[in-house]
Amino acid sequence: ATNRTFTMIKPDAVSNGHIGAILNDIIAAGFKIIAMKYTSLTAETAGQFYAVHAERPFYGELVSFMSSGPIVAAILEKDNAVEDFRKLIGATDPSKAEPGTIRNKYAKSIDANAVHGSDSDENAEIEGRFFFNAFERH
Ligand code: CMP
Repeated sequence: ATNRTFTMIKPDAVSNGHIGAILNDIIAAGFKIIAMKYTSLTAETAGQFYAVHAERPFYGELVSFMSSGPIVAAILEKDNAVEDFRKLIGATDPSKAEPGTIRNKYAKSIDANAVHGSDSDENAEIEGRFFFNAFERH
């Protein structure tokens, strides 16, 4: 079924100049852009966005990294969007990401891993609403 996922191009990929290449890969893979913005997270909003990870050992590093510079946030639509987007970006740890995946091509480390992708339809909806109101979804 056609459904939606949510992504962020993370501060590492933005500062390394990969916004255009990553958007090209996303569009070439058949995803339609429903909403998109160039923005940034504060420590507070990053902490809220990643609240599900609050008890994990990497939470502090994650929040500090995600609030370290601008990001691109987007809602994407495609048949089987959540699963297909996770295949397109590759494993969370870029050293384990398959050749050709976005993280294999553009990521440096498990924190600076270039992109975020929702892990379920439910989280895609929650994450999309965190960044975009109804007027910003097209
Ligand atoms: P993301 O998909 O944005 O969701 C949570 C992020 O935490 C993840 O990408 C990684 O960048 C980061 N992270 C850091 N360490 C770990 C870890 N051990 N397991 C999972 N995610 C991690």
